[in-house]
Amino acid sequence: MDISVKTTLAPTHRTACLVVPVFERRKLSATALQLDASANGYLTKILKQGDMDGKAGQTLMLQRIDGITAARVLLVGCGKEKEFDMRQFKDAVNAAMLVLNDSGANDATSYLADAEVRDCTYTQRLRIEAETALHARYRFDQLKTKNDQTEPRLQRMVLNVIEAENLATAKMAVEIGTAIGKGVATARDLGNLPGNICTPTYLADTAQKNAKRYSDMNVKILKQDDIEKLGMGALLSVAKGSRQPPRLIVINYDGGKKGDKPVVLVGKGITFDSGGISIKSSASMDEMKFDMCGAASVLGTMVTVGELKLPINVVGIVPSCENMPDGAANKPGDIVTSMSGQTIEVLNTDAEGRLILCDALTYSERYKPRAVIDIATLTGACVIALGKHPSGLLSNDDTLAEKLRNAGQRSGDRVWQLPLWEEYQDQLKSNFADMANIGGREAGTITAACFLSRFAEKLKWAHLDIAGTAWESGDNKGATGRPVPLLSQYLLDQCGKKYRL
Ligand code: BES
Ligand code: MN
Ligand code: ZN
Repeated sequence: MDISVKTTLAPTHRTACLVVPVFERRKLSATALQLDASANGYLTKILKQGDMDGKAGQTLMLQRIDGITAARVLLVGCGKEKEFDMRQFKDAVNAAMLVLNDSGANDATSYLADAEVRDCTYTQRLRIEAETALHARYRFDQLKTKNDQTEPRLQRMVLNVIEAENLATAKMAVEIGTAIGKGVATARDLGNLPGNICTPTYLADTAQKNAKRYSDMNVKILKQDDIEKLGMGALLSVAKGSRQPPRLIVINYDGGKKGDKPVVLVGKGITFDSGGISIKSSASMDEMKFDMCGAASVLGTMVTVGELKLPINVVGIVPSCENMPDGAANKPGDIVTSMSGQTIEVLNTDAEGRLILCDALTYSERYKPRAVIDIATLTGACVIALGKHPSGLLSNDDTLAEKLRNAGQRSGDRVWQLPLWEEYQDQLKSNFADMANIGGREAGTITAACFLSRFAEKLKWAHLDIAGTAWESGDNKGATGRPVPLLSQYLLDQCGKKYRL
C-alpha cells in the first residue's frame, strides 16, 4: 500500500473515502464540521439519530452524501477530546483500517492526524498513522492455497496535512513511518514462517537478499567451521542437537562516517525451541517457532535503516540454530566453554537462548561498539512479570537504558526496566563450572540477564526480553514485529536533529 501526504479540502476532495475523527459526545472535529456545513447539517442529523456518539472504537461509514465530493465518509470515534493520546490515536487508526480493509474503497484520505493528540507532536502522529495503517493492512497468506480472507482493495492512502504545517517535514514523517512499517512487516513475515521453512540457513539467505537492496549494507555468514574457529562452544553446544546447521549472521551497515563507532544489535535466532533434552510440554509448543523473533527484529530494523539511509553505522549479529533433543544434544549437567573462556554448566537445556547470545556478545566486542542491544524471546518469566504490553529491559548502563525507555515511549513500543543487581548473581552459582545456565525459580528474567551481563562487562549493553511482546497467541496468533519501532526510534535518535520528529 502506498502512503503519501497532501493538503486537501475535505468537502471537495476526490477520493473513495474520507476518514474523519468525531469526539464524545457527538463532537465534530474541525474537518467533520467543514463536511457538515457542505452537507447541510447531514452529519449532525445522523449523530443526533443516535448511530454514533464518538466513543473510542466506534465507526460509521456513510455513503454518497449530497454536497460532498468523496464517495464515502468514514466517521471514527476518538473518545473524549481532552484525553485523546497516542494509544487511543493508534486504536482509532486501527478501527478505521478494519472498516477500510472490508470496504470497496481503493483509496482513502485520512484527517485523523488533524486532531490534537495529548502526548504526540503533529509529525509524530503522521508517522504513527503510516506505521499503524501498514500494520493493519498486513496479511500473512503466502502458505495458503485458498484465501479465507478477502484481499483488501485499499491500495493508496493520503494523509492530509493541515495547511499551517510544513509539507516537507510531513513527507519525512510519513517516509519514516513507512520505513518502520516495512521493517515491521519483514520481522512479522520471518516470525510467522514455520520452523521447517525458516531455518538458520533461511534466515541467513534472507539477510543476504535484503542487504542487496541497500548500497551501504553487507552481510557475512559464518558457518559451522568458522564458528568452531572462533571457539563459540556455547552456541555450538545448542546447535549440535539438531540436523539443521547453525549460522552466525553478521549484517554491516555503514551509513555513517568511517570510524564512527557502531550500534550493535544482537538477535536471538532459535528457529525452533523444543527445549532439547529438558523438553517442553506439548501445549502451544508450535509457538516456539517464534523463538527467532529477536533475530527477525534485527533483520527488520536493518530494512528500516536501509530504507531511510540513516547516517550511522549499525551492525546486526544473529546467532541462529535449532534447540532439539538428539543423541548429540546437550545433556543436563554438561559443561561447555564459551568464546569468552568462561565455563557454563548446562543444568537445563531449555535455557538455550543465553547460551547462543553469550558468544554473540563476546563476538560483538571486536566492533568497539558505542552500544550493544540484544533482543531475545528469553524467558517465560518475563510474560508472567510484565504480560504482553511492555518488553523487559535490563542494562548495565543507565544512560543507554534511559534512551531506550524514552524511545519506547515516543514510538509507542514500550519497555519496562527490571533491576540488574549484584545480589541476583549468586543464583547462578555452579559447583562444577564458572556458572550455571539457570538461576532457579525466582526472578527468572533477571537471572537470565545476569547470565548475559557476565559476557557484557566490556560493553555498554542493554537486553530486551521480548517473550511477551514478540507475538500474539489465540485467535490472532502471529508475530507483532516488535520491537522494530523501538529500535528504529532509538537509532533515529542517534542521527541528529533532522530525524527528530
Ligand atoms: N524461548 C524460551 C522462552 C519463552 C517461553 C518465551 C515461553 C516465550 C514463551 C526460552 O528458551 C526458555 O525456554 N526459557 C526457559 C528458561 C528456564 C529453563 C530457566 C523458560 O522461560 O522456561
Ligand atoms: Mn528454551
Ligand atoms: Zn528459547
